[in-house]
Amino acid sequence: MAESQVHVDRNLALELVRVTEAAALAASRWMGRGDKNAADGAAVEAMRKAFDTVAISGTVVIGEGEMDEAPMLYIGEKVGLYAKAGGGPEVDIAVDPLEGTTITAKGGPNAMAVVALAQKGGFLHAPDIYMEKLAVGPGLPPGVVSLEAGVEENLRELAKAKKCDISDLVVCLLDRDRHKEIIKRCRAAGARIMMIPDGDVSGVVAVSQPETGVDIYMGSGGAPEGVLAAAALRCIGGQMQGKLLFENDEQISRAREMGVTDPNRIYGLEDMASGEVMFAATGVTTGPMLQGVRRSAGFAITHSIVMRSKSGTVRYVEGHHNFALKPAAFIA
Ligand code: FBP
Repeated sequence: MAESQVHVDRNLALELVRVTEAAALAASRWMGRGDKNAADGAAVEAMRKAFDTVAISGTVVIGEGEMDEAPMLYIGEKVGLYAKAGGGPEVDIAVDPLEGTTITAKGGPNAMAVVALAQKGGFLHAPDIYMEKLAVGPGLPPGVVSLEAGVEENLRELAKAKKCDISDLVVCLLDRDRHKEIIKRCRAAGARIMMIPDGDVSGVVAVSQPETGVDIYMGSGGAPEGVLAAAALRCIGGQMQGKLLFENDEQISRAREMGVTDPNRIYGLEDMASGEVMFAATGVTTGPMLQGVRRSAGFAITHSIVMRSKSGTVRYVEGHHNFALKPAAFIA
């Protein structure tokens, strides 16, 4: 059996929720305290410990950086119960222990802890640079929008496919100066816009959640976050394209070492997250997808989403955590 065809136990998806819960609980203690590094560090440490209990032999392929710049959850690090002893399913892991470090530090909306798991070789090894992203929800003709088309054409084609006017469409993007041109063109075409301060994993996923009202995601953000969002869309449905945005030759040669052969390639959903994929996230602060951690003395409530590409099942999990009974590794 080829490595990439090794079966991934469906119960692992629920195990991943414990991992994101642990990170979210730890990060939530730092909400609004103005220290994004402390919030991130707490999430990383808690997530690292929680992975020790998961029955996998995992390799981090999207993580906190290179081994020399990140003490934990660095790219190439082995995680999971079987990481040292061997045995157990060999899987690839993508993490963002705290997606939205600045928003957590400010007590803003929509920070979350995120993990995705794929069969070995399933994730694009994306360097920590920007990626141009474009995403739409499920049920649309394949290729209805494309990074090769202009903003106006994409809006026109999407409106046609959805049998609505461009003025009915909502475009979600990060509120950044670099997006001024896209915003201008969307407005000129008549579309409405939802700008988010941070957190484009949930921004992309919003296209597949009708209750958010988002029809299309555009603009650039972190490439690692792009792979995590692709993992989520593989499970929940939708279309996504990503293109790595290189700023210099050094970034290109680094990416080549990571396996990127064509720096101009436009990646589809399956190119970024293939085979059996699982995705889990727990809210740190409240956003459109998840409620944030609610804490009281010795007790906390978490809200998580977990999904699998194989079944397409999407579960929301509310965890009630009694710190008096929880193993030390899970208490933040
Ligand atoms: P952090 O959690 O690292 O702060 O990332 C938040 C985020 O908004 C991501 O969701 C997004 O991909 C990236 O930052 C965008 O980067 P920038 O802030 O440089 O525009």
